Amino acid sequence: MKRIEDLNYKIALMFGEIANRYDLLNHLLSFGVDFYWRKELVKAVVFKKTFTILDLATGTFDVCKELYKHYPYAKVIGIDLSLKMMLAGKGKIVDKPFLPVCGDARAIPLKDESVDGVTIAFGIRNVYPREEAYKEILRVLIKGGFFYVLEFGSVKRPILGGIYNFYLSYLLPKIASILSKKEAYNYLAKSISEFPTSEEFKEELLRAGFKNAYYKPLSFGIVYLYIAQKS
Ligand SMILES: C[S@@+](CC[C@H](N)C(=O)[O-])C[C@H]1O[C@@H](n2cnc3c(N)ncnc32)[C@H](O)[C@@H]1O
Repeated sequence: MKRIEDLNYKIALMFGEIANRYDLLNHLLSFGVDFYWRKELVKAVVFKKTFTILDLATGTFDVCKELYKHYPYAKVIGIDLSLKMMLAGKGKIVDKPFLPVCGDARAIPLKDESVDGVTIAFGIRNVYPREEAYKEILRVLIKGGFFYVLEFGSVKRPILGGIYNFYLSYLLPKIASILSKKEAYNYLAKSISEFPTSEEFKEELLRAGFKNAYYKPLSFGIVYLYIAQKS
């Protein structure tokens, strides 16, 4: 019962409801730029010791697929709270040592210091409280391992002269209500507006215990790539 009351599970259930249309809408509503964003995330990955990488809030496995494209010999583990999202991505990765796991970023079912790197694309915004996930990420990362985050930028300032802000708050939920569940895309706009600015998020990572945190804006700051390291 407690699980149902947990905001994370409510969010995962919401993703489950849009799972079958998630990929299509993602590509359509981002005009295909989401492929570029994930590619930038994956290009940044470095392996140090284990050649194992964990993708959290993996959804329909787009990051995992991109990881295998760039690092064919890596071992990729994808974790998501929504089984429906993962089932919607079924068949994307074949003939690879891929391990999809239905689980919570706040309770990662992996041994201490067992992965070289942790990626999360458009997922950290959905985890409450994020600090619980940071603790787990720091636990499973090897010493010196990296945490890579792809997330929408703050909309507290106008992007592209305010066109993007208008698109996100008004147009996107309207288009999405025709093609999918309106609530999910209202939630998207709301969660982006509540997310910290890039500087605040960098500070949050440092406070959580990561070092060498930095960020890079992509597509005029619509999205940011953050990289931070375990000591
Ligand atoms: C916007 S989708 C991102 C999916 C994928 N990473 C991508 O790039 O398209 C967010 C995902 O986070 C998952 N999620 C939310 N809270 C989670 C948690 N606490 N642990 C693991 N996954 C979670 C949702 O089920 C959903 O699949």
